Amino acid sequence: MNPAAIRTSGLSKRFGGVRALNDLNLEVALGEVVGYLGPNGAGKTTTIRLLLGSIRPSSGSAEIFGLDCWRNPTSVHRRLAYVPGEASLWPSLTGAETLHLLGRVQGQVDGAYRDELMGRFDFDPSKKVRAYSKGNRQKLVLIAALMTRADLLVLDEPTAGLDPLMERAFRECVAEARQRGQTIFLSSHILSEVEALCDRVAILRAGKLVEIGTLAEMRHLSTLSVEATFEGAVPDLSVVPGVTAVEVEGATVRCQVAGSVAPLLSVLAGSGARGLLSREPSLEELFLAHYGTGPANGGARTRTGAARTGAGAGAAGAGSVPDGEVAGHGG
Ligand SMILES: Nc1ncnc2c1ncn2[C@@H]1O[C@H](COP(=O)(O)OP(=O)(O)OP(=O)(O)O)[C@@H](O)[C@H]1O
Ligand SMILES: [Mg+2]
Repeated sequence: MNPAAIRTSGLSKRFGGVRALNDLNLEVALGEVVGYLGPNGAGKTTTIRLLLGSIRPSSGSAEIFGLDCWRNPTSVHRRLAYVPGEASLWPSLTGAETLHLLGRVQGQVDGAYRDELMGRFDFDPSKKVRAYSKGNRQKLVLIAALMTRADLLVLDEPTAGLDPLMERAFRECVAEARQRGQTIFLSSHILSEVEALCDRVAILRAGKLVEIGTLAEMRHLSTLSVEATFEGAVPDLSVVPGVTAVEVEGATVRCQVAGSVAPLLSVLAGSGARGLLSREPSLEELFLAHYGTGPANGGARTRTGAARTGAGAGAAGAGSVPDGEVAGHGG
């Protein structure tokens, strides 16, 4: 049996009194693209640093392709490529020299693909790193990771600073990597990116995994927004099982439905509804539902229903960026 691409059991990390990650049990199958979401300070980068073996778990363990991330960092790094959200690079090297160096660290480079990537990302490798804009530095670390064709791509907010054209180029590259059977672990705040690229989504909050599943599963277990227009009198939908957040405006009623829509449909059919619109929640609504900040659809509920409000989640995020990280490797 093939080991999973990523497996963590009880993975936890404390920094002094801060529980940055708490009992994470996560499994990413070979060839899967998993999105990793959570507000600032939720523990995404901490998870990634544990996977890279650059910090030691307080308890629990993490494995990549069956290898323990902390005990076998060298073997682990032969199989993965990493893109940090903000890389510390060598300012006086050129782009080309940096790619060469990072390629040597990784050990494998597809030279033809590297050249193709430089074209697709419209990247000029002849400049010194200190002269690159933020977006160009980000392209450099992306190319460095993609050119390795590593079995696992670990991407921590990889498109920070990229313009929409480059964001599109990135999406195409991820889709191709997936086609080739590479596994991708993508932390991102860009929900449309996650929605477009990922097979499954994991949502982290204050160091704890609160949701994981396919978007279809999450949507299925969440509320549906329904809008119905009637010929005559508007029925009272608030008494229908599963229906909440009923709003009436003239002949139109808007509401949310959790669980089966059958009871609502039978009421609508019996009340002369002449127009019906229904919409599944977007990933953004699902995401917001976990943070008690009043989602646009009036309170989507998900399987775990674990949304908690209060301090914790966002409080420690800003200004707590860990020490500088070098792209492409960590060991
Ligand atoms: N080296 C460190 N020392 C002390 N606390 C840390 C350290 N690294 C992270 N933390 C704390 O751990 C928690 C999780 O941080 P982490 O960087 O993993 O969040 P994140 O989900 O990546 O957030 P963001 O979306 O802002 O990148 C935060 O409370 C943070 O302040
Ligand atoms: Mg982070």
